[in-house]
Amino acid sequence: MTVESVKPEIPPAVELREPPRAGGGVPVLGHGWRLARDPLAFMARLRDHGDVVRLKLGPKTVYAVTTPALTGALALSNDFIIAGPLWESLEGLLGKEGVATANGPRHRRQRRTIQPAFRLDAIPAYGPIMEEEAHALTERWKPGETIDCTSESFRVAVRIAARCLLRGDYMDERAERLCVALATVFRGMYRRMVVPLGPLYSLPLPANREFNRALADLHLLVDEIVAERRASGQKPDDLLTALLEATDENGDPIGEQEIHDQVVAILTPGSETIASTIMWLLHMLAEHPEHADRVHDEVQAVTGGRPVAFADVRGLRHTNNVVVESMRLSPAVWILTRRAVRDTELGGYRIPSGADIIYSPYAIQRDPKSYERNLEFDPDRWLPDRVKEIPKHAMSPFSVGNRKCPSDHFSMAQLTLVTAALATRYRFEQVPGSKDATRVGITLRPHDLRVRPVPR
Ligand code: HEM
Repeated sequence: MTVESVKPEIPPAVELREPPRAGGGVPVLGHGWRLARDPLAFMARLRDHGDVVRLKLGPKTVYAVTTPALTGALALSNDFIIAGPLWESLEGLLGKEGVATANGPRHRRQRRTIQPAFRLDAIPAYGPIMEEEAHALTERWKPGETIDCTSESFRVAVRIAARCLLRGDYMDERAERLCVALATVFRGMYRRMVVPLGPLYSLPLPANREFNRALADLHLLVDEIVAERRASGQKPDDLLTALLEATDENGDPIGEQEIHDQVVAILTPGSETIASTIMWLLHMLAEHPEHADRVHDEVQAVTGGRPVAFADVRGLRHTNNVVVESMRLSPAVWILTRRAVRDTELGGYRIPSGADIIYSPYAIQRDPKSYERNLEFDPDRWLPDRVKEIPKHAMSPFSVGNRKCPSDHFSMAQLTLVTAALATRYRFEQVPGSKDATRVGITLRPHDLRVRPVPR
């Protein structure tokens, strides 16, 4: 053996390409005006320009990633952190010290604090609350009355998150406040993301004042929840106790700001995403009665006619597929961003250190290259023999990697249970005046969905 033959092979230097620039930008606003005007179509069309595409949002160059493989690579790479337009616009709400916005060692420590509450084996303990809330939702409704799906979905989402994770009682009034404040705050934050005109948002204009009021109320709400727990002197085995007792890298108690930001970072994404998804599920049940009937029949077969329980969820395969398919076509989280922390590459394209990256689970999950009859609502595409056809990362509504949603099992359990409870008791039809067009904000939801429950 010669010395030559054991020399490590140096990979040939790969010539990195500059991503193509998307057409249609205008001075000052860049592509922001297109993103603001028709964001879903704009994000979906980017795939026609390339796998990675350069955009201008105001003065910033932003890189859009358009394929499932590269969004997976992005989420799994250490070269990118949580930052960029989405997270910057959310900072006023989520703060800088909560798990959703922190990076590095602080983020790892915070995930360790919250993870036990979301582990697969922790979920059954929430079963009785989820069951109670799912049935209470349908029992509140009177046959034939008009249901305001926005407030009802928020109500059940906040109640489940608060009762399971924060052991909070009497959450109705808070759910209502949270719903109203989040709607205003998320609308304002979305505007700040797509049209980043910094100082203009500090002017004392009515829209800015309304935004600031709503933001202040959200923070007040969280302070109330924390103060109430402390005043009670109780330490139930829940996420709030874990947060209040958490220590930092030096073993010292974490500060008040971090506790506050952590509660916000769990309560707000936990209610907004679940509420939006329940609105879409109600829409689906009204618009696809054949699948509503199949859900009903499946639940009857599993329960033999008794009220559906948490323990039944595992056996509700079609119901689960209906939830997944609804999340595919109408994902609550439709846009995500990251920032490169060093000069790096994605798919052979050069990404400079500091660059903001943007991608859309909505566009990825509707891509005709990944899905046959991509716009059709077809829950059976998730059956074991067909699911193999779907490319990796073409359906990652909870993301992957170290920022993956901790709440995937918690969310799927409650969404499946709520769908089963809704479809067993009622058929749904939209009423005149219901507005089911997609309302784009930080999350996607119907504008103002109103349905009538018809008893089965
Ligand atoms: C993160 C989606 C429900 C708490 C995320 C991320 C996604 C997501 C995509 C990752 C963001 C990224 O990669 O940048 C969803 C969807 C939900 C849902 C689709 C329901 C339909 C919930 C619930 C909670 C929650 C119910 C809490 C009760 C969080 C937290 C993070 C997160 C704390 C930040 C994790 C981290 O950065 O380490 N979620 N989520 N989510 N989600 Fe969820």
